[in-house]
This record gives sequence, C-alpha cells and structure tokens, in this order.
Amino acid sequence: MRFEMNRRRFLQLLGASAAGFLVTPWAQRQIAAATTTPPSPIRFTFDPTDPEVCIVPPPRKLTGDPDLELTLNAITDQVSILPGQVTQVFRYTGQLIQGNPHQVQAIPGSFLGPIIRARTGERVRIHFSNQLPQQTITHWHGLHVPETDDGHPRFGINPGGSYSYDFEIINRAGMYWFHPHPHMLTGEQVYRGMAGLFIVSDAEEDAANLPAGPFDLPLVIQDRTFDANNQMVYTMMGLLGFLGNTILVNGQPNASKVVFQQPYRLRLLNGSNSRIYKFGWSDGTPLTVIATDGGLLAAPVQRDYVTLSPAERAEILVDFNQWPEGTEILLKSLPFTGATPPVGSLPNGAEFTVMSFHVAAAQNTYLPLMTRSGSPAQASGIPLSPFQRLEPTQARNSGSPRPYVLYANGANWTINGRQFEMNGVASDEIFQLGTQELLEFINIPPGGPGSTIEIAHPMHLHGPHFQVISRTPPTDPTQYTNWLTVKDGYLDEGWKDTVLLMPGERVQIQIAFDHYPGLFLYHCHNLEHEDMGMMRNYRVDA
Ligand code: C2O
Ligand code: CU
Ligand code: CU
Repeated sequence: MRFEMNRRRFLQLLGASAAGFLVTPWAQRQIAAATTTPPSPIRFTFDPTDPEVCIVPPPRKLTGDPDLELTLNAITDQVSILPGQVTQVFRYTGQLIQGNPHQVQAIPGSFLGPIIRARTGERVRIHFSNQLPQQTITHWHGLHVPETDDGHPRFGINPGGSYSYDFEIINRAGMYWFHPHPHMLTGEQVYRGMAGLFIVSDAEEDAANLPAGPFDLPLVIQDRTFDANNQMVYTMMGLLGFLGNTILVNGQPNASKVVFQQPYRLRLLNGSNSRIYKFGWSDGTPLTVIATDGGLLAAPVQRDYVTLSPAERAEILVDFNQWPEGTEILLKSLPFTGATPPVGSLPNGAEFTVMSFHVAAAQNTYLPLMTRSGSPAQASGIPLSPFQRLEPTQARNSGSPRPYVLYANGANWTINGRQFEMNGVASDEIFQLGTQELLEFINIPPGGPGSTIEIAHPMHLHGPHFQVISRTPPTDPTQYTNWLTVKDGYLDEGWKDTVLLMPGERVQIQIAFDHYPGLFLYHCHNLEHEDMGMMRNYRVDA
C-alpha cells in the first residue's frame, strides 16, 4: 500500500487540522499525501507496475510538422515571493523549439508556468518531462484534445519520465490553462506552484479589435498560506478543502499595477484550490464582461460583480480613462455567504482586496474602443461573437436530463454516490459521439437532508465546452438567502467548462459530444474534493 509509510504523519496531522470534520481513511490518506513539506527527498514510493497507479500510454509516432513545439519541464525550484527567505515551489518551465518567440513567454518573477499562445487550427507539440520527486501528468484545462493528450491520471508520468503531447487546437479563442492531474496529488501540485496559462486567439477575436499587447493583462488569482520561513503550508480543512490567507496575483502578494487612461482587457483565472471570488471594483463601478471559460460572449454584459469558482475564467473590458489620473482603484472580492462553513483565517466569503490599479495619464493618444467597422464604440455596444445557443430540443434526452447528485457519503465526496475509479465508468456515464445531451448537477447537503455541512461545488467537464440551460435555486430559505449573495455574478451566457453550484442549487447543462471518442474526466474543481475522489470518468463511444 503506497501510503503506508505516511501513516504516522497523517495521525499527527489529524490532530492538527481535522477542524471538527469527520475524516475518513480515504481522506486521511489524502491528507497524509498532501502535507509533507518540500524540499524533502522522494516523498512517495509507488510501484510502477500497479495498474491503479500508472499506465504509460504506448509510445506515439509523431508525424507532420507542428506550428508550435516546445519543451515543458515540471521542476522543483526556489523563488522569492515574500521579503526574506525564498520559497520552495514546484513549477513549470518551458523552452520554445519551433514557433514565434512570443508563443512561450515566461512571467518574470513568478512561479507560474510560461504563457503558451497559439491560434485555432495550429498543431502543438509539447515535450513534457517530469523532474519532480513524485508522479505527475499535465492537463490542458478547457482545451478539447484526444484522450491520450488530456492528462488523465491513468497516464501518470513517474519521476524522471517524459511524454510528448501532440494535438491540434480546435477551441475558439479564449484563455485556457494547464495544470497537473496526477492521482490524488492534483491539489498539492497546483498549490506548490504548478499552473500556467494557454491563450488561444483566432480571426473572430482579431476582428473584435480588443485591447492588445500591454493593454491585455492575464491575471491568475490564487490563495496561499505561508509559514514563518516563507514556505507554503498545505493543510486540509476537513471536507471543505484548502483556503489560504494570502492572495497572490500572478504569483505576487499585494499585487498592484500602474495602468494608463486607456481601455484594458483583464483576463481573470481563479487558479485557487477551493476559494471562490466575487470580483468587483472598489467604487461600485459595474464590470463589463466580454468572455467566459470558452471565449467571447455574443456581446458584452454588465455585472455589479463576477462570481468565479476554482478554474473559472472571466474577461473584463475596463476603460481606465473613466477615472482621473492618480486614482487608486481596487479589484476586490466582495462579501458573500454560505458557500462553505466560515472556517480559516480568511474564510470563503470574506471581503478583501485582490489587487490595486494606479491610474496614470495616457502616454500616447487615447485609443478608444473600436467597433468592427472602425468607429469608436461604447463597451456595451460592441458585437463580439455570433455563436449559437444550443437548443434543448436537439438533445437526445430532451426533457429528461441525466442527474448527477453531489453529496458526501459518510465523509467521502461522491457523484451519484460513487467515487473515482481509475478505469471505471458507469452506465449513466456513457455517451454517443455526435450527439447532444442534457446533464443536471444537483448539489444536496453532505449526508442528505438534515445535514449541517453545506458546501459549494464547481463542476468541471474535460472535453467539449457546454452551455448552461437553466438553474434551479435552493428551496431551503437559508440556502436561498446565501445563493442571492453570489448568483448575480454567474456568467451563464457564454461557453463554459466549469460551473458553480451553491448548496441546494441545481444546474442543467447541454453538451455536444464531438470530435474525440474516449475516456475523459468530470469532477469537482475544488481540488481537494477532486483528490478526495469527487471525480469520475465518462466515456464517449464512436
Ligand atoms: Cu482543471 Cu480535470 O481539471
Ligand atoms: Cu479540465
Ligand atoms: Cu466539490
């Protein structure tokens, strides 16, 4: 049993961190696996012949010439995050082999991986090497790729191993990202620093004339807890997951940025393990949202705030010319209630500043936003993308969506009462290539009615993006009141790969299974829930 050696450690940890929740043996193993502190030597032993642990995909013959080719390494490293001692991290580094130098761009001073940029239709080849002391595998979150490129934990790569990903970008323009997906270690590896952005552009986006270059700011928002020696601390809060007390933007604490009085495109990714954000401007100015997980909306929408659960993205168009020179405007997370129990020193729903923007005079002439025809536009009036809404009558199960009930069985998170099985797929998890289906996620409290632990779940599907067809608010009065504190920030207008369900909420989605048959994952993107087994396979049959 691979975790036996950690038993003493998890018993210590149980005393320190169980936070009053029940912790099952399954969760105990996860806690044990997740809380050793780097840079210890090899921390996990595993038997590479154990089929539950590792199935190396057959060596593949790479054919044809890629448009973009790079190496990507998972390494242990030390970076300076806080004043004083350096912080031990896990991280991605990359080097361009073939393509345009701007396609692999390191973020200076950040532990985040390089920003990879490609255009729709391009062929990408990534030679990945695992230099971590534990197994890993890379998933391209939001990109629709064949199963052998999708980062399933059954293809986990042992320390010292490597794998060449080779896929075509079939997604539309949007901000996607990559992160590890190894069996039960995803939460820890992302936490230690393993995440990077994958930005796709296309002709439709070019035509929208959005702010570009220095006026296009990708912002990855994460929470961490540091100890007195500036090392990242990772301890479970029972069934909740993990919440840190220090907010990082692109790997930096107390983030601030000088911006000019010009329109900017802010691309937000909630890269946190369990934290939900309710983004708003400090002076109450509404947010103009132009894109979601899967790229541009049909047209911009205005929101007083934007709710982003782990892995969700939103793109905001903001004209800093609306504020006088010298203004300091804060991007905040506004208060909300009921997503999780209010535990930790910075609970989910606490109000805090994410980053500050200092408005400076435009250096050049003011560049107003343009419409496609080239005339200046109000942000709210710009047409963006004429994408089609999916039509529920086109689903083969129109009228009877497949239910997926989210609840804790004892203290194990489940989907329809099941936990993750490496190769397992149940009859209600099999779909037919070329068809559309309606799925309904149903968040009922752990233990069912009468239970007092209520937790939100951001549900994510690998493979094609989906559309939200409908939501049913909670019927319980307290859950309903809590739901009201986040629901106006949902962005159900766009293409999505992750959708938040507050306690008591139900969400219907529609998905078209196209392009690739195979075994793919769906799971809660609270990464601790995922590692605790709140993940399943689904299979698309050709
Ligand atoms: Cu971003 Cu299966 O994950
Ligand atoms: Cu994914
Ligand atoms: Cu969850």
